[in-house]
Amino acid sequence: MKILGTGSALPKKVVTNDDLAQVMDTSDEWIKSRTGIEKRHIAVEETTTSMAVEAAKKAIEAAKISVLDIDLIICATVSSDYIFPTLACEVQAAVGAKRATAFDIGAGCSGFLFALATADAYFRTGRFHKALIMGAETLSKMMDWGDRSTCVLFGDGAGAAVVSAEENQLLSMVQGSDGESGMALKCDNRPVNNLYRQLGAQTYSYTEMNGSEVYKFAVRTVPTAISEALEQAKVPADDVKLYLLHQANRRIIEAVAKRLGQSLDKFPMNLQECGNISAASVPILLDKVCKDGMLQAGDKVVLAGFGAGLTWGACVLEW
Ligand code: UT7
Repeated sequence: MKILGTGSALPKKVVTNDDLAQVMDTSDEWIKSRTGIEKRHIAVEETTTSMAVEAAKKAIEAAKISVLDIDLIICATVSSDYIFPTLACEVQAAVGAKRATAFDIGAGCSGFLFALATADAYFRTGRFHKALIMGAETLSKMMDWGDRSTCVLFGDGAGAAVVSAEENQLLSMVQGSDGESGMALKCDNRPVNNLYRQLGAQTYSYTEMNGSEVYKFAVRTVPTAISEALEQAKVPADDVKLYLLHQANRRIIEAVAKRLGQSLDKFPMNLQECGNISAASVPILLDKVCKDGMLQAGDKVVLAGFGAGLTWGACVLEW
């Protein structure tokens, strides 16, 4: 497969750490020193669908293809606007990709890697040829704004890529899941409403995270997954031009760089501007490095995601 074009969209409203410190017991110093995050975009007028559609249109334009060539749309999200129809079907309608089969996948912050792996597997059947894959999230609507240890970390946005079955840019893919540790990062679905099952008053919570558990999982799992992906691709870590990691925490990225023996300069970040946007963080960062002209033909790039599930994914691309 080959990435033909990328696009992204962020909400207009920017909320700084100082803005948050005015409405909860936190500080710019705490958030910046623990995470590297300085601000995040929060959807006020935008929705998950509107941002996904904006990112998709930009990616299709960058790919220079007809929208009718798209035969597959996969949206990775944990915060779609409807339980059904899926976000992917909403995007299909908005961009006019009438020939596409469209569905969502939920893999938390690994979502874009899982979408890429799924598109690749579909391509290998020979029945699909051009896919629009995306990560799109409005996490702000799922935060417990009374829980300062979690709500300050996340932001909203969408990133998209058009990928084609032609050529072989994807040199390797590693994915994994650890459901036994899944409750370290969770968000309840809506309360049960069933005439035949009376549960009385139900407790109902928004995003909850055991930060230190997820942190330990990330610094243990991500370097191993990346090393496996590099080994499969027969690419030495030193030969990689850029490592594009899920943007959860600067300290996690620093730990991964150290474990791989690589300079932090090879790990571009946008978490300082955007916070953690779950499935959207990797494609938004990919779009940024493409727009900034940081990738040339032949460059080796690693993408890696990790998060809710718990799940992880890493791949090596040759640009
Ligand atoms: O995308 C999914 C992946 N998610 C992640 O990768 C998140 C991974 N985890 C982390 O990034 C870190 O664990 C956090 C940034 C969430 C937390 O950092 P930490 O160094 O593990 O801090 P902590 O949770 O141990 O909290 C230390 C202190 C506590 O106070 P006491 O008990 O020591 O008095 C917290 O109450 O910091 C306090 N605290 C805060 N203080 C000011 C927690 N949140 C805040 C806050 N502002 N926002």
